[in-house]
Amino acid sequence: MTDYITDEAHGTNWSLLLGDSCERLAEIETDSVDLSICSPPFASLFIYSPSVRDLGNAASRVEFLEHYSFIIREQLRVTKPGRRACIHVQQLTTTKSMTGYMGMTDFRGEVIRAFQDAGWIYDGEVTVWKDPQAQSIRTRSHALAFATKNRDSATTRPALADYLLLFKKPGENAVDVASRVLERFEALRAHGFSEEDIWDIGAITALFGLSNRMANLTSMQPNPEFYLMGRVPKAASPDKAR
Ligand SMILES: C[S@@+](CC[C@H](N)C(=O)[O-])C[C@H]1O[C@@H](n2cnc3c(N)ncnc32)[C@H](O)[C@@H]1O
Repeated sequence: MTDYITDEAHGTNWSLLLGDSCERLAEIETDSVDLSICSPPFASLFIYSPSVRDLGNAASRVEFLEHYSFIIREQLRVTKPGRRACIHVQQLTTTKSMTGYMGMTDFRGEVIRAFQDAGWIYDGEVTVWKDPQAQSIRTRSHALAFATKNRDSATTRPALADYLLLFKKPGENAVDVASRVLERFEALRAHGFSEEDIWDIGAITALFGLSNRMANLTSMQPNPEFYLMGRVPKAASPDKAR
């Protein structure tokens, strides 16, 4: 058992609370949270800390769901009616040593049912496709390896997706969440940008967004020169010195 540390910091329109969510959520007012976005431990897939307070240290799936249900219930209490909690999960695989076969368990479904049992409405999800090769390199999963496919592709499987599960607290949303598009334009105009400048800002940002997505698609690793781009003073740049 390690020491349990709590801390907090506050500023204008923000507060940070460090500690066990099972306890610290109790300090948050009922019906006060507009949106929460969380990535809980995926049962005991990873070890984050040696603490028994850590959801990742549950001895079984049943124990994990029982522990997590304290947080799910408190999250419902603090959320405003009609507002959402967004929960990041992945399905979990089984190993031969754990269950006698290599397969999957429906962790995503178990989390959905735990939220529904607590009174949340499950009202949507986003599926994030994952690159099988990048996942194979990161997790060293036998079922994703090229060597497995070449030897016997019957023992392969697709990469595991990430899911963002969307849950809503029953009741009417009291304040509309209107689109901020026009406000964004106003803010840029207030800084002296013309319509054409705003178009350029959008185009450059979108272009970087595209290149980042292409790099993600191909698992492209930056070369050493990339890290120096825009960071080397012009006079000292090797190209200029030549
Ligand atoms: C999947 S990780 C997500 C971490 C972080 N959101 C991120 O994206 O890097 C889950 C985290 O929840 C923490 N955790 C587990 N049980 C907790 C509890 N009872 N109270 C607060 N945090 C907890 C774990 O220690 C771990 O850091």
